[in-house]
Amino acid sequence: MNSSQSNKYIMAFLATVFIAMTIGISSDAIFSTPHPEAEGYVIAASEGGAPAAGKEAPAAVPIATLLASADPARGQNVFKRCAACHTGEKGGANKVGPHLWDVVNRPMATVEGFSYSAAMKEFSQGGKEVWDYEHLNKFLTSPKGYIKGTAMGFAGDKKDNERADLIAYLRSLSDNPAPLPSPEAAAPAEATKPAEEAKPADEKPAEAPVAPETPAPAAPEAPATQPAN
Ligand code: HEC
Repeated sequence: MNSSQSNKYIMAFLATVFIAMTIGISSDAIFSTPHPEAEGYVIAASEGGAPAAGKEAPAAVPIATLLASADPARGQNVFKRCAACHTGEKGGANKVGPHLWDVVNRPMATVEGFSYSAAMKEFSQGGKEVWDYEHLNKFLTSPKGYIKGTAMGFAGDKKDNERADLIAYLRSLSDNPAPLPSPEAAAPAEATKPAEEAKPADEKPAEAPVAPETPAPAAPEAPATQPAN
């Protein structure tokens, strides 16, 4: 085999490698599955306002706690994602979704002239259920996860802070915004219960009176319990 012949083999080999790599790269590009944004959300959720809550339990931070540090101005920005389908102003039209003026504490599935999905109507129990903070929080975390079969084509916002900002903004879409829930009632540190069962209020830490080792007999009026925070 002379050298020009073996050069040909080398060239042929290199060409094959090159083609194989090109195909590999372009098929990566063509068939690449974009990673769902949700992964990023999960990580970001842990930067939420409640340090004590378990990082593995994303829905565990009570909305009352989240709302305490929420900012409606930031939420207005988040609302841009909803605006394709929802108006937020007074007298706003229904678009793909019903208008969201005064949505906080509004009975579910009751906007005139909007045709709700069967799933939403069923969930609303004929308008008995209202869009309180709790429902909004869970619904907006995962619309289809919370109301299976809803027609709302929005993937959900898993970022606690962002969602709280958004809900704070929704609250502002009213002549008479609903009162904010009181964060004390939420007992954030105890929110490690399963998410569905999150009734944080009944998990109030028993405020164990700080019993002094040595009884102090001369202080009958000393306040035995100080709020822990
Ligand atoms: C792709 C369109 C679309 C997007 C984006 C969208 N929604 Fe919706 N939304 C809908 C539809 C459709 C419904 C009615 C759902 C049904 O009947 O099941 C709905 C219903 C709702 C309801 C219930 C209203 C009621 O009257 O009971 C709320 C609250 C809501 N959306 C909030 C939001 C918020 C907040 C966002 C942004 C984070 C958002 N939606 C994004 C389409 C959308």
